[in-house]
Amino acid sequence: MKLFIDDANLEAIKEINEYYPVDGVTTNPSILAKAKRDPRETLKAIREIIGEDKIIFAQAVDLSFEGMIKDAHMIVELLGKNTVVKLPSTPTGFKAMMALKKEGITTCGTVVYTPMQAYLAAKAGASYVAPYVNRIDNMGYDGVRVVQQIQDILDNNAMDCEVLAASFKNSQQVLELAEYGVGNATCAADVIKGFVKNLAIDGAIQDFVDDFKALTGRTSMSDLD
Ligand code: G3P
Repeated sequence: MKLFIDDANLEAIKEINEYYPVDGVTTNPSILAKAKRDPRETLKAIREIIGEDKIIFAQAVDLSFEGMIKDAHMIVELLGKNTVVKLPSTPTGFKAMMALKKEGITTCGTVVYTPMQAYLAAKAGASYVAPYVNRIDNMGYDGVRVVQQIQDILDNNAMDCEVLAASFKNSQQVLELAEYGVGNATCAADVIKGFVKNLAIDGAIQDFVDDFKALTGRTSMSDLD
């Protein structure tokens, strides 16, 4: 499972990109709004941090077909290769996915709450579909199960489309999808930092250092005489 940062906080992206094995960054208009600056500047800054080989996702905002196409062109021109344009998984979005596929622009069907939306977006030529795990949970359904169902639909129909599971609030939701073999997950910076935030781990590591120091008086192998 590939792992993406679902955030536009540049400091957090810098840190996570350096310390964690991530594959890129995903954004949406609400995430960009939190950065409180021109969204083009934020997206360019994210591209500079992650480099041109990692993937960046940016969403078309206009809700008309013509506007989605224009937004898609602008996003790809701004961010270069390895850019994926997110489009809502609605009839207008499906039309835009079909048109952009013909142009060779990679798209992601987003705002996916139901397997049917994902199936149609994949059929329309989206390379990714993004179901919202936690938001589905909050509606009283099982978000993880919905994502598994979408993965099955894509696999069983040999569709050329990957799941990009989004909207996570905890590690368990992510792990259940990794266990199932879901293609991609994207998580906010604070969720990623929570993956290995655990007093038992910190304590065990400190014990190793303390035991070594008791033996040698040193806290690193390279300091030994
Ligand atoms: O892009 C979709 C995803 O970011 C939604 O996450 O946390 O707003 O439910 P959230």
